[in-house]
Amino acid sequence: MNVTLDGRPTVAYEGETVAAVLIAEEGLTTRQTASGASRGIYCGMGVCFECLVVVDGVPNTRSCMTLVTDGMRVERQKGAGPPR
Ligand code: FES
Repeated sequence: MNVTLDGRPTVAYEGETVAAVLIAEEGLTTRQTASGASRGIYCGMGVCFECLVVVDGVPNTRSCMTLVTDGMRVERQKGAGPPR
């Protein structure tokens, strides 16, 4: 499948989570807090909410709980993310 990470095209595989794609392509950082501190995958099972990203324009999406789909646009989130 083809997805974009921060606007850059990359390849993902069916059954992968967004977190897995981010780890493979970018490392562990998924977002920055409002103060600029980096956050990333911590629990990997949907509990800690540290792995939030923007998926297809929707902020606060847990990357560890979201399976990639073809054409998905993933952006690392800054602060609370873009307004909905
Ligand atoms: S890594 Fe904890 S909710 Fe995703």
